[in-house]
Amino acid sequence: MMEIPSIFSPEDWSFTFYEGLSRHPDSIFRDKTVAELGCGNGWISIALAGKWLPLKVYGLDINPRAIKIARINFYLNALDDDGHTICDGEGKTLLDRVEFYESDLLSYCRDNKLELDRIVGCIPQILNPNLEAMSRIITEISSEEFLYSLSNYCSLQGFVEDEFGLGLIARAVEEGIAVIKPMGIMVFNIGGRPGQGVCERVFLRRGFHIKKLWQTKIMQAADTDISSLVEIEENSPHRFEFFMDLVGDQPVCARTAWA
Ligand SMILES: C[S@@+](CC[C@H](N)C(=O)[O-])C[C@H]1O[C@@H](n2cnc3c(N)ncnc32)[C@H](O)[C@@H]1O
Repeated sequence: MMEIPSIFSPEDWSFTFYEGLSRHPDSIFRDKTVAELGCGNGWISIALAGKWLPLKVYGLDINPRAIKIARINFYLNALDDDGHTICDGEGKTLLDRVEFYESDLLSYCRDNKLELDRIVGCIPQILNPNLEAMSRIITEISSEEFLYSLSNYCSLQGFVEDEFGLGLIARAVEEGIAVIKPMGIMVFNIGGRPGQGVCERVFLRRGFHIKKLWQTKIMQAADTDISSLVEIEENSPHRFEFFMDLVGDQPVCARTAWA
């Protein structure tokens, strides 16, 4: 898999997401049309297509350079050393099963009137401490630093969940309702920082049944600035939940975690 500095490098956060996807019975993706939101370098869309034989996976990301790299990774994995396509058990290749597009959440699917069976995603859940930065236009020639920041941070989305950093997830769920087929399934990687009740309400208040597939503790990435969560605690009675280590069960608030 190829990686470059302006896109997210897969680590514990996304491995946890893949672990959660793997907890589903194999049948949930087989022959299904799937969108992956925030596909980054494309590894999850590629792995999903190879393992579960969906009809099609649309890997989508707002970062134009992520889509370029995802397409390179797609060919690196679709072809053998001699440049021949590798066939799966059904005689199809990755080239038949996966497509990557630049897209703000589900805009590509909406614009192309695609109907989806499954929507999966591992997208940012912390407000950018520099909200002004998020008003910049995203292009191929934007700075490396700005494009990388899209991996960790989101802007205000106009949903009540913005208050907890979950606005982008809330918008994804609302956009998803318009493009998902009846009885469709959405699978999101959710950071538990706002507390389980807040995370569950994002879905319950939009009419979803929820099932927790997999839960684990991971280290908070050192390059993520959580000061926006500290600010929320300063201005409200809400307390986020961090842990001092991977084994303890007693949460500490964002202010203590930041300190
Ligand atoms: C934590 S990274 C996950 C990347 C990849 N799924 C992985 O596990 O390696 C989050 C990704 O969401 C993308 N992203 C952020 N905002 C987005 C949006 N509005 N629409 C689509 N993708 C977005 C970022 O560019 C980034 O690639």
